[in-house]
Amino acid sequence: MIDLVVEGRLFLDGELKQGCVGIENGRIVAVKKVLRGETKIDAGYRIVLPAAMDPHVHFRQPGMTNKEDFSSGSLAALHGGVTTVLDMPNTFPPTDRLAVLKDKKRIVRGRSYVDYGMFVTTDLPRRLEAMAPHVAGLKIFMGSTTGSLLDNDDKSIHRMLRKAEALHVPVSVHAEDDSMIFHEEAGSLKDHLRNRPADAEFNAVRRLIALGAKGVNICHVTRAEILDMATEAGMSSEVAPHHMLLDIGSPLGARGKVNPPLRQPLAKDALYRAVAQGKATMLGSDHAPHTVDEKSEDFDICPSGVPGVETMFPLMMAAVKRNDIPLATLVRMACEEPARRFNVPKGRIEEGMMADLAIYDPREMSTIEGSRLYSKCGWTPYEGMEAIFPQTVIMHGEIQLKGGEPCGETIGRDIKDEPL
Ligand code: NCD
Ligand code: ZN
Repeated sequence: MIDLVVEGRLFLDGELKQGCVGIENGRIVAVKKVLRGETKIDAGYRIVLPAAMDPHVHFRQPGMTNKEDFSSGSLAALHGGVTTVLDMPNTFPPTDRLAVLKDKKRIVRGRSYVDYGMFVTTDLPRRLEAMAPHVAGLKIFMGSTTGSLLDNDDKSIHRMLRKAEALHVPVSVHAEDDSMIFHEEAGSLKDHLRNRPADAEFNAVRRLIALGAKGVNICHVTRAEILDMATEAGMSSEVAPHHMLLDIGSPLGARGKVNPPLRQPLAKDALYRAVAQGKATMLGSDHAPHTVDEKSEDFDICPSGVPGVETMFPLMMAAVKRNDIPLATLVRMACEEPARRFNVPKGRIEEGMMADLAIYDPREMSTIEGSRLYSKCGWTPYEGMEAIFPQTVIMHGEIQLKGGEPCGETIGRDIKDEPL
């Protein structure tokens, strides 16, 4: 008999159908109308989705664990229905060479509640070659941001793109042209936007297109037009909830300081609509936790970044409930596409896939409260907004979250070095 069976309204082939998922040794072994198992989870009318994957988080370990670390960050992920995260390389020291990458992996190993992969950053092809077998992807920063890891030179970018392609390493780009960013004193979200105009983003994307950067992923796209530009050029796009839900009119002050910046209300609304129409490839939170103290500094010296791994999927589930976004679009952006693009056997409820599932009760609308979140940073830019959090999360066939509370162990694995 099958070890574990989950019965409920399953998301299969783009729609919800009553059925059973059979799980053995961490994998989905059967999807049928009726299945019998040693243990059964009856989700009833609740909906059973593939767990989400966040292709863009900053878990701050090593070097800045006062802001976050892998155990707090991965608990936050789990609480938000995310069972795979890709961590960015602007940790300290930056993940830019094999020795540092190995150290980071050693430090993180055994501490994560969810599966993870590591991005690296370097402008030296030989370093990328050495790291390639162990990485989820290469990150290129065309605009300066937290960590000052800049590569904004066409020749150098082109060289790295070619190398990454030859090594089959996925590439994600922070697309803001640094030469178009102003460094004037800023006292408000409006000033920050003036310092980092949308033109800087458009120009970075245009340059990538001119470089033939097919297959590259554009991170945290803020403008609807760029979603189309990316698609036409054969690139993928990633959108973060804060650019869809928050704008420079928000009362967040320095808490809303982030790169790329929050934009005008109209631009935000257009982005939200375009995402709802299915024009973005993926969702990525750009979870960039900074402490409440740091975010309470004067606007000008306050670090850029907002947390989000924990609220990304729940906020979008509320949008689905309001009929703003089709469920199938959300699952494609948050589950199917990230898994497919970064080669993780997850993202669909299908035989052979990892048994990573999240169960939601669409009637359980709640409001986000920073004090109830698991991220170490202790605040959220979405305070008071509607969200639907998962009730149960299963990872590798193990129950990792129950009744909305984490209940599992640090069984997260590295998607490259401990193949799933
Ligand atoms: C990120 C951070 O804090 O690490 N900040 C941000 O504003 N998004 C860096 C980044 O991804 O740009
Ligand atoms: Zn980022």
